[in-house]
Amino acid sequence: MAKIKHDIKDAKLATEGKKRVDWAAKDMPVLGLIAERMRKEKPLKGITMSACLHVTAETANLMRTLKAGGADVALCASNPLSTQDDVAATLVVHDKIPTFAIRGEDNNTYYQHLHEVIERGPELTMDDGADLVTLLHTELSRYAPQVRASMEETTTGVIRLKALEADGTLAIPVIAVNDADTKHLFDNRYGTGQSTIDGIIRATDMLFAGKTVVVIGYGWCGRGVASRAAGLGAHVVVTEVDPLRALEATMDGFRVMPIAAAAKEGDVFITLTGNKHCIAAKHFGLMKDGAVVCNSGHFDLEIDLVGLKKMAKKVNRNVRHCVDEYVLPNGHSINVLAEGRLVNLSAAEGHPASVMDMSFATQALASEWAMKMSNNGGLEVRVHPVSPAIEAQVAALKLAGMGIKIDRLTKDQKTYLSSWTEGTT
Ligand code: ADE
Repeated sequence: MAKIKHDIKDAKLATEGKKRVDWAAKDMPVLGLIAERMRKEKPLKGITMSACLHVTAETANLMRTLKAGGADVALCASNPLSTQDDVAATLVVHDKIPTFAIRGEDNNTYYQHLHEVIERGPELTMDDGADLVTLLHTELSRYAPQVRASMEETTTGVIRLKALEADGTLAIPVIAVNDADTKHLFDNRYGTGQSTIDGIIRATDMLFAGKTVVVIGYGWCGRGVASRAAGLGAHVVVTEVDPLRALEATMDGFRVMPIAAAAKEGDVFITLTGNKHCIAAKHFGLMKDGAVVCNSGHFDLEIDLVGLKKMAKKVNRNVRHCVDEYVLPNGHSINVLAEGRLVNLSAAEGHPASVMDMSFATQALASEWAMKMSNNGGLEVRVHPVSPAIEAQVAALKLAGMGIKIDRLTKDQKTYLSSWTEGTT
């Protein structure tokens, strides 16, 4: 066993984990090219870096890339139920990366693991959900002054960071990687779209054709799930609080109604809002017998499970892997998947490598950019967007990796676009 700090389930899983990480690498050509360059140029040389991400095969490839770039990187889980234990094992055994993640860890262990990576005194951090940054602003604020920048992977995390900034409390520069087009247009839409359905099918083995699927929230993730569910032949109902998004869902061909009405119609309910109690206790009693309820948003509070537990006369745990059955006083069963945690990462393997390729290429380049900026006069303490040059590079490399060529503007077209004199002819 490697002599590096770690807390993982079982080092003996490392061989299986390595196979899984190597398999994912084949579908991550953009990250692979960046790793090759970084191995030569070492843009992160000597930088202590702490990451709190879902511990998956794709994340392992990002960790390998950052290490190749010279970073002294450590990893902990960003969700108690998303860790792939074999991947955590190979990160420790083969890649010699301090890793702190065990699938099913309790809340105490989860936070102990976050402490472990922060107490290394990182100069760069990377979050999926802003738990590291939150600790750096509370209990562990003594470590904040040396943090040069922090990258954030997900919508929920960016919402928290913007709230910190609006409060005037933000203490470190942060980069909203989630908001890059190369991230949310692909990862949130096609990644969540596919992996959420994958999680529901693996947990339940259900047929989507003919089912009424209620998609709660029509952001990029909700749009993706709605379109994929419709593609499988489901009748999709959308619930929203934003009039513009509700209108968009309507014109995309979906029925839109309040959750209280949708509760009576749905066979499957999927929350993707970043908000709490979008399915409230009062809605469960309206649902059909056998309704399936799950969440694909970052936190497990989108569904009021405490309320559901209070009203249930019986809870049958693990009636199938990742399925808990709550029996209500009216005799109806409500089947909750993955304890209300991210169903795509808890019941399946998260987004496929091909789409994480773009997200994590953006992360790697944002880390390099942050170091460059920090060394050249520093980064302002605020929420920064990803630079357009990084986005253009990731998109171009991804297209090249897919073997797709596109047209270029002619000289005449460039002149036309930058002039105002040519009008109606
Ligand atoms: N978020 C969603 N899918 C993921 C994956 N496969 N790896 C890491 N983070 C993810």
